[in-house]
Amino acid sequence: MAKVSQTHGIDARRVLEGLDAYRALEAKQQPTWPDAAAVQRASAELSTQPPLVFAGEADQLRTRLAAAARGEAFLLQGGDCAETFAAATADKIRDRVKTLLQMAVVLTYGASMPVIKLGRMAGQFAKPRSSDTETRDGVTLPAYRGDLVNGYDFTPESRTVDPGRLLEGYHVAASTLNLIRAFTQGGFADLRQVHEWNKGFVANPANQRYESLAAEIDRALKFMEACGVESAALSQTEFYVSHEALLLDYERPLTRIDSRTGELYDTSGHMLWIGERTRDLDGAHVEFLSHVRNPIGVKLGPTATVDDALRLIDKLDPEREPGRLTFITRMGAGKIRDVLPGLLAGVRDAGATPLWVTDPMHGNGMTTATGYKTRRFDDVMDELRGFFEAHREVGTFPGGIHIELTGDDVTECLGGSENIDEATLATRYESLCDPRLNHMQSLELAFQVAEELKQLRHSHDQEVRWRPGTNVPGR
Ligand code: PEP
Ligand code: CO
Repeated sequence: MAKVSQTHGIDARRVLEGLDAYRALEAKQQPTWPDAAAVQRASAELSTQPPLVFAGEADQLRTRLAAAARGEAFLLQGGDCAETFAAATADKIRDRVKTLLQMAVVLTYGASMPVIKLGRMAGQFAKPRSSDTETRDGVTLPAYRGDLVNGYDFTPESRTVDPGRLLEGYHVAASTLNLIRAFTQGGFADLRQVHEWNKGFVANPANQRYESLAAEIDRALKFMEACGVESAALSQTEFYVSHEALLLDYERPLTRIDSRTGELYDTSGHMLWIGERTRDLDGAHVEFLSHVRNPIGVKLGPTATVDDALRLIDKLDPEREPGRLTFITRMGAGKIRDVLPGLLAGVRDAGATPLWVTDPMHGNGMTTATGYKTRRFDDVMDELRGFFEAHREVGTFPGGIHIELTGDDVTECLGGSENIDEATLATRYESLCDPRLNHMQSLELAFQVAEELKQLRHSHDQEVRWRPGTNVPGR
């Protein structure tokens, strides 16, 4: 448990009591731990570990997200559906970071807009499931809930939930974040390395297109150098991490009081989000995150109403503080054009300005006849276009994308310019949860989003319907 003390006039006991109000509420999607004492021991140990992120970093991300909510920046959030402990290797982490850096460059250059880089990384270890159990060939075992809870292998040993995994997850998150910090602060993210980030990936049309863009950037950099322009912004990049704050036995011990201000921060990641299945207003997740100062996201599916959105705003962002709250919509390609405009308009008419981000993945799942969980790249792209259309219609700013991706050449989503078909899925399907875009599909998507942003800027420059800094027309 966090140390209860009276420092700097902070009544820590009162602050923590407020936070712990969630314990009296229903927490969906939690494992049934067989041994409560073992969970308490793991929690107690976790609460003595150093924070993974600092309060000041979370504050800084909030100011960046506020810029995106005003239409002055764009959020790129991406990573695995479910990170695993085994895949937290240097190569895989590097390739995911490289993929995100490449996408960010494509977007920044295409849209002439700062891009906020936010990994679904260093903590994306817990998954909501549609059923508590899974049955294969007549054998029923607990469902896999992510590496933070149990193992994926379909054996009783592996599927038994194990609180020891809470600490293991913390250490894997720490080493992942350490490597991310080294990559992004230590020279690897230097814009002059823009060609390097493309190396090591199998040649394909998207990374060839990327090569020519990188050559243009190179020329621009040489020009700036010749003019004597020097900027630290070229050699380092800000990179933040986020995950779904699903498993409260992990999030609670990592939540700490900031000694500067007496406020609570969940130090397991810079940004935390609440999933579509746990966003009940009177549930434990919403209550818990309402007490921490980190920027918060909430997923909104096709059944979300304006009233749901407004009540979430009242609970999670009563001050309507720019950058505090991000709505991540995941409607499905077939529904977004019908449901999103009304939601955007209703929230805007209430005077609220959350950041709106699209997750074009989770509303577009399907299972093939051969049993693969997949998504069509075309559906993902269609939902993306629908997102931009809906914002254009209402006059709000489409502030970012939330994507499940990997730097590896997996075959999990159908289509893309390599035209992965159903038979090809089996070649390299590695995700333990939802299918991810591979390196090439991720780059292709970034190029298309850059086009959308370019058009948006262009039409707004013409029409001045939406201007940077005015998310709400007339304000
Ligand atoms: C996810 O992001 O992996 C997820 C489970 O999403 P959602 O809450 O939108 O279903
Ligand atoms: Co997912």
